[in-house]
Amino acid sequence: MANKVSSEPNVKQLLLECREAIKTAYIPYSKFAVGAAVETIDGVIYRGCNIENAAYTGCICAERTAMCKAVSDGITQFKAIAITSNMPAPDLIVPCGTCRQFIREFSTDLTIYLVRPDLTYEKTSLEALLPKSFGPQDLEKGVGK
Ligand code: THU
Repeated sequence: MANKVSSEPNVKQLLLECREAIKTAYIPYSKFAVGAAVETIDGVIYRGCNIENAAYTGCICAERTAMCKAVSDGITQFKAIAITSNMPAPDLIVPCGTCRQFIREFSTDLTIYLVRPDLTYEKTSLEALLPKSFGPQDLEKGVGK
């Protein structure tokens, strides 16, 4: 019998993987390392780190790196994302506006874990971080036509 995939996020693994992702952050400019781990609907976890660029607008955040890796593998449905940074506790990192909108493209109901370096965390939602958002369904309604 095939293993049934849990609909609940694998929180413990997400916490460990987002902290692991920090290690490969490419941050010559800000020195501010961020790690993310996103869990797909099938329970696969992709890591991502922030990757900076000498032309600063070319920087990509950890959240988008992780999600791009999944989407480029053809996966567009997600359960959860965990984000952490090398900031000292007790501060939490929250996704930037661009990342909130990027996540929103693929999911409005995923769980978001904001993780401290000691792996304590706060749980939040996209709805809380990006209320009244614009998304694919708005285009279907004919916005801009
Ligand atoms: N950063 C992220 O990776 N995720 C966020 O949500 C906020 C900011 C990165 C971008 C840049 O490399 C560094 O943090 C400082 O802004």
